[in-house]
Amino acid sequence: MYINFWYPIALSEDVVKYEPHRTQVLGQQLVAFRDSKGKAHVLSDVCIHRGGALGKGWVREDSVVCPYHGWQFGGDGKCNKIPTVDVKKIPNRAKVDSYPVEEKYGIVFAFLGDLPEKQRPPLRPVDEWGKKGWRANNKVVVFEVGAYYERSIENGLDPSHNEFVHPAQGSPILQDMFKRKPLDMQDSRWGSEFLVRFDNERINEDDIYDEALTVPEVTAGSGFLGPNQMITWISFSKDSSFTQYFYEAPIDETRTRIFFVNMRNFMREPENDGRLVKTNLIVAQEDIDILEELDPVGTPNSTAEELLVPSDAAVMSYRKYLQAWRDKGWYIDTDTIRKERHNRAFAIPSPGRRKSKGWVLHSVPLLPPTRKSKSKGKKKRKAA
Ligand code: FES
Ligand SMILES: [Fe+2]
Repeated sequence: MYINFWYPIALSEDVVKYEPHRTQVLGQQLVAFRDSKGKAHVLSDVCIHRGGALGKGWVREDSVVCPYHGWQFGGDGKCNKIPTVDVKKIPNRAKVDSYPVEEKYGIVFAFLGDLPEKQRPPLRPVDEWGKKGWRANNKVVVFEVGAYYERSIENGLDPSHNEFVHPAQGSPILQDMFKRKPLDMQDSRWGSEFLVRFDNERINEDDIYDEALTVPEVTAGSGFLGPNQMITWISFSKDSSFTQYFYEAPIDETRTRIFFVNMRNFMREPENDGRLVKTNLIVAQEDIDILEELDPVGTPNSTAEELLVPSDAAVMSYRKYLQAWRDKGWYIDTDTIRKERHNRAFAIPSPGRRKSKGWVLHSVPLLPPTRKSKSKGKKKRKAA
């Protein structure tokens, strides 16, 4: 799990006024709350007085109040009230980490890391959001999955599982195409993607497939941005396309919360939303049934411990990027956290830690950079 990326924290509708919302991401507890102007804030949940859970408290005066002794923390993370201490004497160390927030598409996102704004990897925008001719399902679907998020992203990047895991969707045409054409990955700074076009021709030259199986104009592809954001394109024609965005939050090393935004430019009548969500849930469950049984739960430390083939090109690309982010020293050292947790609370470092000193909680430990990382080439995506 990595610091310094944008993570989905909660559905907007779950962050209500006057009530904190407590959740776990990257193995750490967080609290989200809304101030009186409606702005959402995300803070580290651990009260630095004596370890109370801020998310179990309440919201007052645009601040979250610890339920143990009533210390009050504003959206900036600073303590603005200690009931037993004169306000002028509140120590500088009375503060918790406050994370940059963006609220979009019905989701509250937080940047969980300490990079200054200019250096932050972006949040993948939903390009079709609010665009004429496109419709989102009326509700963002949230799945909680008993699998590690990297396995989930890899599954989304993997076109060769469709025929087997989703028999109603997959087609043997795809398998045949992979034998002839490797996936053409288009790299950019924070991720990589591919698009495959199924030409208007009989794909199998031996003619073993029925004419009905040739699929003119269809394009499909996937990509990732950062370790936890994934996009899938499925286009049957210009006027009938889906674009699906998966924003994934590792709860810990074995569980993932996935926020799914589904855009379409056909069947746009609102009454189709329910039917489409139902289909999405069936397809997702087919994936979940596989993902929850994978061994090991995480990805192996070496690609030699699995046997990857050319149709796994997107998975290989994803692992290469993960390694580069690990090389930057952004990977959370969960072994150390596990060992020390009994007597020590941690917080994901926020940008505030680079500006001021005097933090009560230790930052989550990070694995040291393994080598100097090189910046990625910038190739633009084009349809394959
Ligand atoms: S532990 Fe939070 S106020 Fe005491
Ligand atoms: Fe799938």
